[in-house]
Amino acid sequence: MPKPMLEAKNLTMKFGNLTASNNVSFSVDKGEIVSLIGPNGAGKTTIFNCISGFYKPFSGRVYFEGKDITGLSPYKITSMGLTRTFQIVKPLKEMTVKENILTGAFLRASSRSEAEKIADEILKITHLSEKKDVLAGSLTTADKKRLEIARVLATKPKMIMLDEAMAGLNQTETKEAMELCLNLNKQHGITLLIVEHVMEAIMPISNRVIVLNAGEKIAEGSPEEIVNNEEVIKAYLGERYHAKSKQTNRRV
Ligand SMILES: Nc1ncnc2c1ncn2[C@@H]1O[C@H](COP(=O)(O)OP(=O)(O)OP(=O)(O)O)[C@@H](O)[C@H]1O
Ligand SMILES: [Mg+2]
Repeated sequence: MPKPMLEAKNLTMKFGNLTASNNVSFSVDKGEIVSLIGPNGAGKTTIFNCISGFYKPFSGRVYFEGKDITGLSPYKITSMGLTRTFQIVKPLKEMTVKENILTGAFLRASSRSEAEKIADEILKITHLSEKKDVLAGSLTTADKKRLEIARVLATKPKMIMLDEAMAGLNQTETKEAMELCLNLNKQHGITLLIVEHVMEAIMPISNRVIVLNAGEKIAEGSPEEIVNNEEVIKAYLGERYHAKSKQTNRRV
């Protein structure tokens, strides 16, 4: 059996008396799209922070392509090919869209012209070419979310962890974001771990879904298994999402 691309083993994270993640284990195989869902405060972003090097877990280990990356710096982890976006997007507002992307591209590029080449390619993939000279601060929410993905793409990742890249988008923009995810996965071979509350966007594109509640993993399975799981419905999905319903998520 090939090793998983990402493996989180018994991750626990505490903030004072609060256990934000409690003994969470899961893995993601190369080429998969896996979603991590759960109520507000369930510990999803905390898990991303532990995996991407922004927090050092209280206990547990993280392996990427079989290598122990626990406690390495975010820069080191990104340079190994694992990167993440932020729930609160942080574009460099006074820089243009292209300049923002260039900041990511310099991780791999050895010259300005090589970085420009990478940035132009990413602008095309993310449909931002027409806005390349616009200041990032003046973009719409949807374009800021798109730029967040573009910036991490410029680091040429093997795997991206997306933290609510679809929050606040309208239906058309959500559909475009889903298409971008599928394109990155299918055409560019990028493995995705997606944190999202927009169920109708992620259920159709996920191979597997992992559910957190109050810091603990409570379920894992195919989208169909998850939407029919009584414990998940009780803890999170409630009446707002069923496999056949078109209901929107509760946050936006
Ligand atoms: N830096 C921190 N210091 C103290 N408590 C924190 C910190 N980061 C997160 N927490 C707490 O840990 C718990 C999990 O938070 P986390 O942000 O991981 O949840 P989440 O599942 O991402 O929620 P949401 O869906 O709202 O983004 C919450 O109770 C939160 O208040
Ligand atoms: Mg979060």
